[in-house]
Amino acid sequence: MKLYIETMGCAMNSRDSEHMVGELGKVGYVQTNEPSEADLILINTCSVREKPERKLFSEIGQFAKIKKPGAKIGVCGCTASHMGAQILKKAPSVDFVLGARNVSKISQIIKQDKAVAVDLDHDDSTYVFASQAPSNIKALLNISIGCDKHCTYCVVPHTRGKEISIPMDLLLKEADKLAQAGVKEILLLGQNVNNYGARFSTDHPKVNFTTLLENLSQIGGLKRIRFTSPHPLHMDNAFLEHFAANPKVCKSIHIPLQSGSNAILKAMKRGYSREWYLDRIARLKALVPEVGISTDIIVGFPGETPRDFEDTLDILEQVRFDTLYSFIYSPRPLTPSCTWKNQVPKEESSAHLKRLQSRHKEILEQKARAELGKTHEVLIEKITEGVAEGRSSNGRLLSFEAGGAGVGDFVAVEVVAHRKGSLKGRIA
Ligand code: 5AD
Ligand code: SF4
Repeated sequence: MKLYIETMGCAMNSRDSEHMVGELGKVGYVQTNEPSEADLILINTCSVREKPERKLFSEIGQFAKIKKPGAKIGVCGCTASHMGAQILKKAPSVDFVLGARNVSKISQIIKQDKAVAVDLDHDDSTYVFASQAPSNIKALLNISIGCDKHCTYCVVPHTRGKEISIPMDLLLKEADKLAQAGVKEILLLGQNVNNYGARFSTDHPKVNFTTLLENLSQIGGLKRIRFTSPHPLHMDNAFLEHFAANPKVCKSIHIPLQSGSNAILKAMKRGYSREWYLDRIARLKALVPEVGISTDIIVGFPGETPRDFEDTLDILEQVRFDTLYSFIYSPRPLTPSCTWKNQVPKEESSAHLKRLQSRHKEILEQKARAELGKTHEVLIEKITEGVAEGRSSNGRLLSFEAGGAGVGDFVAVEVVAHRKGSLKGRIA
C-alpha cells in the first residue's frame, strides 16, 4: 500500500510526519511522491498563520480530484487539532482528522470511517515510535511536546496542548540508535527546549536542558547537537555558559524576539523585556564571539505604533541577526489578541515588514563581506555534481568543490566569495 504525505509548517511537524511514516511502515505502507498512486494521502497542517490554513481546503479539493478510487484522505497536524470535526463538515472528501498531539494513533485512525482524534490531553511522551532508517547524516529528535506559555498571538497551546518532556532515557536511546545508523548531527525540537524537564508524565529524576545536553554529548558517534527553539526567558547564565563550553553544541542559536518594544512584549505576554533580551545577547556574544543568532519577529501586532516598530528596528541594529524570520501578525482563532479592537491596518504592517526585511538584507550583505578569508569547519551535508554543501558550527551555509571529500566528512573551508548572502568557499 502506498502513502503520500505532505508536510507544512515547522520542524516539529516534519518530525511528526516522520513518526507517522514510521508507524504506517509497520502496517505495510511505503511512501510515494505521486498522490494519484497513493492509497492514503495525509496532509500534515500548520495553523500558525492564516495563509497556510486557507491553502488547506484548496489542497484537499485537488487531492480529492486526482486520488485513486477508494484512497483515503487524512488531515493531521495543527489545523486538525483546532478545527477537528469542522474539517469533515467543510470538506466531505476528508476521511479522518488526526490532531498534532495524537500522532501515535495513526495506524488505528486510518481504519475508522470519519474518525476525529484531537484530544489535547493525549500523552505521546513515552510512546516509542517506529523509526525509519535515517536518510541523512542529520536527524530530528523531539524532546518535548506542547507548550505552557500563553503568548497572546499564538495558537500552538490550542493545537499541541500542555508541555510535557520526553523522558531522558528514551531520548538517549533514540539518539544512540541514530548515531549508530550514521547520524552525525541532531536537531533537538520543542516549543521551549530550554524549559526541558519542567514536567514529565511519569516519575522521573530531576533534570534540566543542560543535563540533557551533557548526556547527549557523551554519545560517541554524535558530533553535533543543535536545538530549536529556546525561549529568551529561560536563558539563565548556567544555560549560556553550558552552550559556550560544550564543544558538541553548535554555536548557532535561534532566539525568538517577536518585538523590540516593551509595551508590545507585555501585550504579547512574552515574559521578558527588551533590556533582558539585549542583556542575554550581550552575555552570549561575550561568551561566544562567533555565535550565529537567528530570530523571529512579528510586525503589526495589535496596538503596535510606529514608535514600537522603531524599537524593533533598534534591536535589529544592535544584534545584527544572522537569520531573520519575519511575519505580519495574523489573527488566530482561540487566541486573546484576535478579538482586540486595536488591529493594525494591513498596509502599515506591510510597509513595516518591507523596511525590516530590506534593512536586514543590507546587514546580511555586510556580514557576508566580513566572512571573506575566514575558515570554518564544515560538515558536508550533500554533494551535487561535485559541489558540496554544508554548515559551519555557527550556522553559515557554504558551498565548495568537494574534491575527494564525502557526505558526513568535516572539512576546513575558507570563504572566497559571496553572492546575495550565500557563501562560496574552497577546502583549505
Ligand atoms: N501571527 C504572525 N506570526 C506568528 N507567529 C506565531 N503566531 C503568529 C501569529 N499569530 C510566528 C512567531 C513564532 C513563529 C513560529 O511564528 O514569530 O515564533
Ligand atoms: Fe509548527 Fe506552530 Fe505550525 Fe504547529 S502551528 S506546525 S507548532 S509552526
